[in-house]
Amino acid sequence: MITGHAGLVLGVADIQEARRFVDDFGLPLRHADAETVSFELEEGSTVFLRHQDDPLLPPPLGAAASGVREIIWGVDTREALNALAASISQDVAVTRDADGSFGFVDPSGIATRLRLFHRKPVLNAPEPLNAPDAVRRLGKHRRWRKRCYPKVIQHVVYVVDDALEAARFYIHRLGFKLSDISDGVGYFLRAPGISEHHSIFFLQKGAVPGADSPRPDHVSFGVEDIDEMMVGANYMDRRGWKKSMGPGRHRIGSALFYYFHTPFGIEFEYDTDNDHLDEHWQPLIWEPRFGMLAWIAGDMPPFWRQEPDWNVRYVPADHPVFVPYETVAPASDAQG
Ligand SMILES: [Fe+2]
Repeated sequence: MITGHAGLVLGVADIQEARRFVDDFGLPLRHADAETVSFELEEGSTVFLRHQDDPLLPPPLGAAASGVREIIWGVDTREALNALAASISQDVAVTRDADGSFGFVDPSGIATRLRLFHRKPVLNAPEPLNAPDAVRRLGKHRRWRKRCYPKVIQHVVYVVDDALEAARFYIHRLGFKLSDISDGVGYFLRAPGISEHHSIFFLQKGAVPGADSPRPDHVSFGVEDIDEMMVGANYMDRRGWKKSMGPGRHRIGSALFYYFHTPFGIEFEYDTDNDHLDEHWQPLIWEPRFGMLAWIAGDMPPFWRQEPDWNVRYVPADHPVFVPYETVAPASDAQG
């Protein structure tokens, strides 16, 4: 099964500027040469930077050459890897690389790779929170940090032409689980081998301001707690990088968030205190404004400023996202 993100390949216009941003954001450098810079997170996943015109890169999703050019999913066994490649080859062309990984462009146009990957455990020890008469931390203060060091790739968000169809492909061909639906806006899915609320979100083109055409939107990296997130935000501010939005807390998935503009088009997000789900979870359909924000500090974006409807309901069993994904017959075979 797919156990999470093994890596990302980013196309960038200026490798040194992109490297400076990712360094400041806190990803540990692994390797740098003339063509590529790579960062390896504690979980073992890798973020590669390559020049956006590098012929080795797959085609971009949308018009912009910069941003996420390939998403790499980790698979736990060789047998599972081969089975997944067989599953998706019903719908799209799949190529096998010398290293045994499989590459394809999904039906939404997202360049994707599947490879064997064994995620390493990460060392986190979030400190207990105190409240009046509910003392969890006595006689010691919270840790002091200078920097934020994300340890995992948490999720990736793409604007796509048809978020429902994108979700169906991932559920029925790749085994993803539906976590929640933002009504009319998009689908939150988690890889089957992890419990984090979502590992990918498909945002429906045209559903919200700024989502006008297919493109990679942002990548989220998991940090330990709100203190690490805000120390990171202060550090990024001192280094001259601009925030997009935050801090705040989503209601869907419960995560605390802080988004930054990157020099390569997409946004990078710090993310912490997510919901974790298991097989008992029943997916919900959320009114979008209600689901998007539990709260946000200060600068509320105009679209989200409007008071939300407190409207949440369970996804019905006959929702179209649960209709099995079937290969469309070639036109020559179609009747009539
Ligand atoms: Fe996010």
